[in-house]
Amino acid sequence: MPMRPTPLAPPAYDAAAERRHLALRDEFLIDPDVVFLNHGSFGACPRPVFDRYQAWQRELERQPVEFVGRRQRDLLTDARQALATYLGAQRDDLVLVPNVTTALNIVARSLPLQPGDEVLSTDHEYGALQRTWTFVGEQRQARLVAQRLPKPIEDQDEVVEAIWTGVTPRTRVLFLSHITSPTAVILPIEPLIARAREAGIWTVIDGAHAPGQIDVDLSRLEVDFYGGNCHKWLSSAKGAGFLYVRKELQSLIDPLVVSWGWRPNEPWSTPFVDELQRQGTHDISAYLSVPAAIAFQQDRDWPSVRQQCHELARLARQSMTTLTGIEALVPDDPKWFAQMATLPLPPSCTTSTASRSLRHTGARRRACASPSRATTLARTLSG
Ligand SMILES: Cc1ncc(COP(=O)(O)O)c(C=O)c1O
Repeated sequence: MPMRPTPLAPPAYDAAAERRHLALRDEFLIDPDVVFLNHGSFGACPRPVFDRYQAWQRELERQPVEFVGRRQRDLLTDARQALATYLGAQRDDLVLVPNVTTALNIVARSLPLQPGDEVLSTDHEYGALQRTWTFVGEQRQARLVAQRLPKPIEDQDEVVEAIWTGVTPRTRVLFLSHITSPTAVILPIEPLIARAREAGIWTVIDGAHAPGQIDVDLSRLEVDFYGGNCHKWLSSAKGAGFLYVRKELQSLIDPLVVSWGWRPNEPWSTPFVDELQRQGTHDISAYLSVPAAIAFQQDRDWPSVRQQCHELARLARQSMTTLTGIEALVPDDPKWFAQMATLPLPPSCTTSTASRSLRHTGARRRACASPSRATTLARTLSG
């Protein structure tokens, strides 16, 4: 049965909204001749944030010893503070890392899994992190269990149950994406985190797509481990992610790279921060661009930008379902998708191309509103 769109009262995407979007698009460095639909893979950085990033790089090169040797600690502390405030966390419960893959490798490779233990997950997770857990599982003789999600996805309780039926006495970890990569679905992580907490199961959330796209309040979530990216939807320079770890569990975490922060001569902060944040010589400018990215979005009333982008993704999805008869995986409701939308491709496509997402930044209304163009785009995206 084709899924019926849920009646919504979205803000109209009118001429004023279009003008605003075009002005915002001009602030990004993306080639203006490209209809850029894939914001989800690597994000995009606006000019003011990129300028700040390059300014940090120039400052570093001008006085490397002063910058890396003397100022780094305070600069990183300030950047962590800005990000922690944005995410509703305490500054010292969070460290900056190059990306969410690194963040969750740190967690997966630290947790004391025993032979026979299980990591419960879904069949919508990101391939690199499925590999991470499989790698760790092979080392520890533990097992990654991927629960199949319903199709179509219509009811949050049904999703929760589909995942939770995979819990066994050997389940030690619940690993979920906040927003899935192949399907762009916002998973109902809150009730699952609450249940896992009661059952004594560690929760590890892949927030690659969440910050900047949906509200993230880490204290309210009461999650154990949360990794995220700033270079996707928060518009920082590339190479900025974070790892949050609940205070009581920080002693479980080992650094992937052991450096001066392990048993430091002069501590910067807590052992968790020191061990993970003090690494060898590297360029921290992407990390330092994060406060500028947060300010960029705050200065531009990002909640309404997000809402308009959602509306564009919604319209694009609607045009394509009307044109092709393809059924959407989730209902037309902002509780299920934000600024990214996906549609399954017809059976003529291979499995790998069929899993690719249609990702929409929101600044390309004409491309998606025109039916013929939309079909072409769907084909282009399918490989
Ligand atoms: C859900 C999910 N997790 C993790 C990642 C990996 O992000 P990164 O390469 O920045 O670590 C991605 C990238 O698209 C993703 O979609």
